[in-house]
Amino acid sequence: MKKIFLLLLITVNILSCKKNKKTSFVNDTTHEAKIEALLSKMTLEEKIGQTNLRGVSSRATSLPTDLKESVRKGNVGAFLNIMNLEYVDELQRIAVEESPNGIPLIFGRDVIHGFKTLFPIPLGLAATWDAKIVEKSSEIAAFEASGAGIRWTFAPMLDIARDSRWGRIAESPGEDPYLATVLGAAYIKGFQGDDLSSPYRMAASAKHYIAYGAAIGGRDYNTVDISEQLLRNVYLPPFKAAIDAGSATVMSSFNEINGIPATGNEFLLKDVLRDELQFDGFVVSDWDSVIEMVAHGYASDEKHAGELAAKAGLDMEMTSQAYENHLKELIEEKKISVEELNEFVRNILRIKFRLGLFKNPHRNKEHTGNFYAKDHLKEAKKAAIESTVLLKNKNSILPISEKTNVAIIGPLANAPHEQLGTWSFDGEKEHTNTPLNAYQDTNTNFKFAKGLDYSRDTSKKGFKEAINIAKKSDVILFFGGEEAILSGEAHSRANIDLPGIQEELINELAKTGKPIVLVIMAGRPITITNIIDKTDAVLMAWHPGTMGGEALYEIINGIKSPEGRLPVSWPKTAGQLPYFYNHKNTGRPADSTNYIPMDKIPVAAWQSSLGNKSHYLDVGFTPHFPFGYGLTYTSFKYSDVSISKKDINFNEDLEVKFSITNTGKKAGKEIAQLYIQDVVGSITRPVKELKRYQHVSLKSGETKEVIFKISSKDLEFVNHKLIKVAEEGVFNLWVGPNAAQGLKTSFSIKK
Ligand code: NOJ
Repeated sequence: MKKIFLLLLITVNILSCKKNKKTSFVNDTTHEAKIEALLSKMTLEEKIGQTNLRGVSSRATSLPTDLKESVRKGNVGAFLNIMNLEYVDELQRIAVEESPNGIPLIFGRDVIHGFKTLFPIPLGLAATWDAKIVEKSSEIAAFEASGAGIRWTFAPMLDIARDSRWGRIAESPGEDPYLATVLGAAYIKGFQGDDLSSPYRMAASAKHYIAYGAAIGGRDYNTVDISEQLLRNVYLPPFKAAIDAGSATVMSSFNEINGIPATGNEFLLKDVLRDELQFDGFVVSDWDSVIEMVAHGYASDEKHAGELAAKAGLDMEMTSQAYENHLKELIEEKKISVEELNEFVRNILRIKFRLGLFKNPHRNKEHTGNFYAKDHLKEAKKAAIESTVLLKNKNSILPISEKTNVAIIGPLANAPHEQLGTWSFDGEKEHTNTPLNAYQDTNTNFKFAKGLDYSRDTSKKGFKEAINIAKKSDVILFFGGEEAILSGEAHSRANIDLPGIQEELINELAKTGKPIVLVIMAGRPITITNIIDKTDAVLMAWHPGTMGGEALYEIINGIKSPEGRLPVSWPKTAGQLPYFYNHKNTGRPADSTNYIPMDKIPVAAWQSSLGNKSHYLDVGFTPHFPFGYGLTYTSFKYSDVSISKKDINFNEDLEVKFSITNTGKKAGKEIAQLYIQDVVGSITRPVKELKRYQHVSLKSGETKEVIFKISSKDLEFVNHKLIKVAEEGVFNLWVGPNAAQGLKTSFSIKK
């Protein structure tokens, strides 16, 4: 195995590692000399102390004396979840004034989609397909969080997620590597800015390295067994993009990969991350993931876990204390060298220097973070509007007019805590604007009855009132979905229908004959196959954050248009999962001409596979809604696709031109998408791969020409010899509104 890895390393280095210069950091060259000077003065204990990320409960009511003592001795390098500002100040004071070498601490926290002002969950942000929004949301998150002394966030989560059962899909950039690379870089830029030493910025942590989203069955923390080609072609690119953008830290994932836990995986942490990707920040473990190597069956005890993590090159340990308890002994036993430890300390100090902590260790007390500032709320609302995906709009029922009498029903209509979504430690429900609040503030043409108290509620006690108000209204706005706690870490679901008896309530409401607009707030795609026919329109709002109410009000009433596009394929049923648009063709690809549904099979049919292809008898071979899909309040037509040349060379760009016309009556924004297919490869290639996209705003009747350029670089993939190549041959190319539709052309490329 190791041999293959070495071979890989050499080939990848030779062939593809024209290493990018990383984002430049202020005073970087002088940092290295200062780091060495400091290192030469540090005791072994102090060095080990730097590798220690101590977690405390964010609800702690006092600062334990032994904790202060540990900092005083230089035994702690960083903290997570210290939210009491006096503790932050006191601990930092002790570190810089009383610890042996005055090395400052870093205070970290999961600031994932905002600090106080919450933006849509990351999957919702991904639905904006808008790097500027993502960058702005992270900049605001950094600004607010740094006002509370936090200079390190455990974000962005860059795990490709192909399985909506996985609770952490909510935190992911979705299923596509290209979209994830674009947004991944934007997150880093937003959190870190150009100068990490600015007191308004935070160090980012690209996580979870790596392939955490490939957990078998979408069950959190589960085993990952993955080919290295898949790892490199799908799961690695977003991390590369984040590192190229200067991500200060990387977090190792909980999962094992092909038998070796990520936290103890030397190949991944050293060969790939350091040597290939040239990462020069520090790697932090996930919460207890060092000690969890014992449960994995990879380490025999805490000491062995520490040894394996250290050998693998893990710089900092989160919460468990294998390093603190055993590194000294491991060094004395010569199992780990002082030089290995020195390298961890260098990586950690480098980030402390870049954060400017040696110059300005203390929280800037003038900087309040300006929580929920007007412009923060404005951006959060914009993000919620851009992230909302219109999935169905029968007879253009949406937008309604503000004069329409609506019945506001459903467990998420006024659920301020729930609409903030997973990882919303610091957002306060008192500051959350719900759809009901938005109506209350703006419009009197509504009646409200929850129908169900919460998403899992199974009591029908509220049905009657809900049905009554529905009967007296013109349109039913049903706000359903799942509570925040039903997605996120450790919250995978095997059945991803609307929980509780929401479907039953929708069925009852449908009997009134009033049109139903279903607004879903959830951390994942929710399977709605059972009830979609009972609805007239469906809006996916994800968990939209602090300003979700106003954003939805404006969309529903046509003040704004829904602008989101799906960053994941939307399944018909959980039994289809994992499902992703960029799958392989197989030897027996299914299409509409050969799909034989279950009810067409004769009784007592003769055993035969003939005529059957790679599909499910009951649900076929397509998702409910494809990747990239999203309707608007207008319609668009693609036309006149042309390419600059039918045959190009490897050093030439291909220019793809086409027109988009707004054929509807309203202005709107299309997200034009370009996909390619490498028809024949030395390894089989996906049926489609997203390579470019562009937001195009068009007035009614307006036509715009769109031009995309791609080059052989965009056609590259890692082959069976683990070499990155672009191969000669024919490529199909589509431009269109989603992964399932588009105008097709083709070109070929030669050396
Ligand atoms: C565990 C999660 O996996 C990770 O994403 C998070 O940053 C840490 N806990 C710290 O809270």
